[in-house]
Amino acid sequence: MNRRPLLIRHASQLVTLKGSSDAPLTGKAMEALHIIEDGSVWIEEGIIQSVGTDREIAEKYGSRLEEARVIDATGRLVTPGLVDPHTHLVYAGSRENEFEMRLKGATYMEIMNAGGGIHATTAATQKATHEQLYEESRKRLDLFLRHGVTTVEAKSGYGLTLEHELKQLEVARELNRNHPVDVVSTFMGAHAVPVAYRERPDDFVERVIREMIPEVARRKLAEFNDVFCEKGVFTPEQSRRILEAGKEWGLLPKIHADEIEPYGGAELAAEVGAVSADHLLKASERGIRALAEKGVVAVLLPGTAFFLMAESADGRRMIDAGVPVALSTDCNPGSSPTVSMPLIMNLGCLKMGMTPAEVLTAATINAAHAIRRGREIGSIEEGKKADLVLFDVPNYMSLQYAFGVNHVHTVIKGGEVVLSNENR
Ligand code: NIG
Ligand code: FE
Repeated sequence: MNRRPLLIRHASQLVTLKGSSDAPLTGKAMEALHIIEDGSVWIEEGIIQSVGTDREIAEKYGSRLEEARVIDATGRLVTPGLVDPHTHLVYAGSRENEFEMRLKGATYMEIMNAGGGIHATTAATQKATHEQLYEESRKRLDLFLRHGVTTVEAKSGYGLTLEHELKQLEVARELNRNHPVDVVSTFMGAHAVPVAYRERPDDFVERVIREMIPEVARRKLAEFNDVFCEKGVFTPEQSRRILEAGKEWGLLPKIHADEIEPYGGAELAAEVGAVSADHLLKASERGIRALAEKGVVAVLLPGTAFFLMAESADGRRMIDAGVPVALSTDCNPGSSPTVSMPLIMNLGCLKMGMTPAEVLTAATINAAHAIRRGREIGSIEEGKKADLVLFDVPNYMSLQYAFGVNHVHTVIKGGEVVLSNENR
């Protein structure tokens, strides 16, 4: 690590999201970005030391200014590093053939039930060696970084046997160690019922509970435990058992809920005390109220709805009901093969009725809370990890307005410049 301080100066807007470390933001507070104009940040040893107007920082560090490496952010927007709290980062292969099938009228569930979908990616992932899987996933992680993402959550769930689930999680752990982007792991053995268990799904649930969860926990390969609670996949009762079993091993529950049909997933998330409930396109009114009451973060995935040509979750309604909302790509080869959080924020505005300020909150601090990292990342405040992005736009509204363009100029991770487009 470079010992010299890093000073970012003169941001046209510095989005701090101050005061949001203890709990995710809800309701009107989701628009309180706490912007500093002509803002500056002083960073040492990878940690944010001080945040203020350029004049304040220059006065405070007067005699030490010469020591610092300086990044001039004049005319640029500076935000916390984007956080993607729901990805299926580690997989092999791709499924563009299914994209074409869907464009010709087949549905996502029809393709999966015919042995494609998650099963197709499972076959490719099982076949891949650790090295191949690492290489494919590393390339994707590079692309996340290029789009301003400094932390991703990554789920297993394309292994579906102990051996291959462990392989996926080991790849995620190695990426976390080697790559500038932080990778937070989730075990998702209950992503699909393998074809061989189709007639006896409860036997597979038993394997997840008795064989996989204990081993994943013993090896400390994941922090969270997720399940695809959906008609034709895992029932709410099976999902509850899997999530409760994870809790006994210290894995915090997450849930893919109410994506394709209303199925009581949001209600279940509130009952088991899930950290987040994700998807929620078809969440019931009762389910939304339960999430608000329990403070479960709703991780909304408008890229998935877009790519499946479905109606998005009602982000507007959820924010108005007091649910803390976060956004994510759901990056996966079937329902959302994208790595672009800026695109997701744009869809949040255009497809879910969220404002530019709300989507920025949802992609930073609330996303950090969705993976229990709200105290370390997600806002630009003293004591937090120095993960920041400089965008080539003058204000936060332009980020959503000029859509379909990658505005990322510089990415700083842990106080180091890990991506720069200075000469572009
Ligand atoms: O979050 N919904 C379940 N799982 C993924 C899709 C996985 C796939 O199609 O490969 C999702 O959308
Ligand atoms: Fe997902």
